[in-house]
Order: sequence, then C-alpha cells, then structure tokens
Amino acid sequence: MSKGLDVGTMNIICSEMEGDEIVFVQQRNAFLELDYNEMTKMMLDNARVAYVIKGNKIYVLGDDALRFATVFKKSTRRPMKSGVLSPEEKEAIPIIKLLIEKVVGSPEYAGETVCISSPAKPIDSDIEVLYHRKTMEALIKKIGYTPYVIDEGLAVVYSELADTSFTGIGISFGAGMTNVTAAYFAAPIVSFSIAKGGDWIDENVAKATGMSREQVCAIKESGFELKREVELGSVEGALAIYYDQLISNIVENLARKLAEVTPPAVEFPVVLAGGTSKPRGFKALFDERLNEIGLPVNVSEIRVARDPLFSVARGCLIAAKTREG
Ligand SMILES: Nc1ncnc2c1ncn2[C@@H]1O[C@H](COP(=O)(O)OP(=O)(O)OP(=O)(O)O)[C@@H](O)[C@H]1O
Ligand SMILES: [Mg+2]
Repeated sequence: MSKGLDVGTMNIICSEMEGDEIVFVQQRNAFLELDYNEMTKMMLDNARVAYVIKGNKIYVLGDDALRFATVFKKSTRRPMKSGVLSPEEKEAIPIIKLLIEKVVGSPEYAGETVCISSPAKPIDSDIEVLYHRKTMEALIKKIGYTPYVIDEGLAVVYSELADTSFTGIGISFGAGMTNVTAAYFAAPIVSFSIAKGGDWIDENVAKATGMSREQVCAIKESGFELKREVELGSVEGALAIYYDQLISNIVENLARKLAEVTPPAVEFPVVLAGGTSKPRGFKALFDERLNEIGLPVNVSEIRVARDPLFSVARGCLIAAKTREG
C-alpha cells in the first residue's frame, strides 16, 4: 500500500491506510544537538529517547528534541526554513533523512509509492524549490520507496475536494510558506507559493511588540481568535495585522495569477488548510478579503479543511493511491 508524506517546515507527517481508516504519524521537524558524554547518554537511555550519535555529538530528533531542549537549556534547530531545506543548517539533510525514516518506516514491498508534497515556486523570493524537491525524491528512493511529488496546494485539493472531482482551489497556510493551487479535474492551472506563513507572523509580531518569537507563537497557538475589534498595542492586535496582511497578499496574488490564464467557466470551491489557518475567525477574515478583492473565477464556497494540520498528508495519500491504482 502507498503512503503520503508531508514534509513541512514545522511538522513532518506520514499518512497510510489501516483498514478503512487513514492513520497519521507526526514528528516535529526539529532536532537538538548535544555534546556526547556518558551522563547525557545515560539520561536519554533512561528516558527511552531515541537519538543518534555522530562523532562527539548526540542528536535528539523530532518531538523529543522539544521535550529535552528545556532540560538541557539548549535551543532546538530546524532542518528547514521557508518551506525548503535550510541553506544555513549543515546537518539538514542527514537529520531530515532520519526524521523521514522515523515516520515512514521501511517499505512493505519493492516499489511502494510515497507521494511527497513540495512547495510550488515562490513569487516573492528567490528560494530554490527544485533542489529541495529533488533531494526529497532522492531520500525517499534511498529508503526504498518510489517517490512521487505533488505541489502542496494540490495535496489540499486531493484531500478535500473529491466531491467536485478535484476541481477547486487548495491553500495550505503553513509555518514557512503559504502554498496555493487552483486545479481543474486534478490538473493544476495555477500553482504558486509565497514565503510567508506562521513563522513570518511570529517574527514580525515579535519585532513589533518586543516579545520573543517563542512567546508570540505560544499565544497564537493557544486559543487566539481573530476578531474585528482589537485592543491597540496588544499582541492579539499585532497578530491580527499580520494575519490580515498574509491573507490579503494571498488573495491578491491568486487573483493576478488566475487572470493570467483562462480558467474554465466552472465553479471553484476554495479550501483553507495548514496550521496557520486554525485560529477562530480565520475563515471570516478570508471571506471578507476575498469579497473585497474578488477572483476572476466563480467561487462556489469557502471551506475549512476538516483537519487543517493533516490535510496535506491526507491529500498526498489519496494522490499516491490514485497513481498506484
Ligand atoms: N492552533 C493554532 N493556531 C494558530 N497557529 C497554529 C496553531 N497550530 C499550529 N499553528 C501554526 O501553524 C504552523 C504549522 O502549520 P503546518 O504544520 O501546516 O506547517 P508546515 O507544513 O510544517 O510548514 P510549511 O508547509 O510552511 O513548510 C506554525 O506556524 C504554527 O505556529
Ligand atoms: Mg505544510
């Protein structure tokens, strides 16, 4: 059976069928580098934490890295930045290979397909997506699977729009990027990304308010709501400003990109997915900006993905199954 794999800047998620159900295995896309010594090793062994030793370093991976960062008073590092392998992180490739192995496991048979999501070319930066895409393909091959890559926005379409035969617009609001694909019967007619997402919001709100990025992110993730009326000078107010900017930016670029092609005269539902789309009030703000700016297609409805964090992984699995037959 085939698998889906969402390699995101913050989360790596694998999806597969178990009976009639889709199950997900998730890890934080992060690691912790510790100096090797017997004490540290013993402590990790006692806590039953999986780690790898390389030279005189110990690497703790994924969710455990976050758990132990405070214990060791060290910051976690991330193999990816802005949707792709981080050029600033020399350990990026070996670490991400281990993380991927942790979630996908070994293939059950030769040639088993893994469908991976990859960002589309960003329109607001010169980030190179080809290198990332090709490296992910090579890693999956090395683990023993047959890779198949689709754009992250298309994965959202696969996940949520079976009822319109995969015609519609899928948007994944992630940590490092926002990815958009407009598809007609599963064929992308417009696909792009912008290098802005949850990290960009955290960073700018931190700069504006003098708080740390970690503090801002914690507030944002714990029940923050996008409201019309905000208190000036509050963190919530600053979050609302950057959320609004991100949404407007996406809708404007989508309108411009769609105007460059001749979209078929059918109805296009829009689906919102990704962790950044989770706050209450997100859909209402998106509705408002879409109505103001307008799109050169008929938008039939705006939906929120049933589980925004897992939508891309789910879509990858459906795409993989469709391909494997
Ligand atoms: N409940 C929440 N409210 C607001 N933001 C959230 C919530 N949960 C997660 N996030 C944010 O969602 C982002 C992670 O989402 P997601 O897992 O979709 O991204 P990713 O796939 O790892 O990144 P990318 O697709 O950009 O490479 C982070 O910025 C995180 O802070
Ligand atoms: Mg993502």
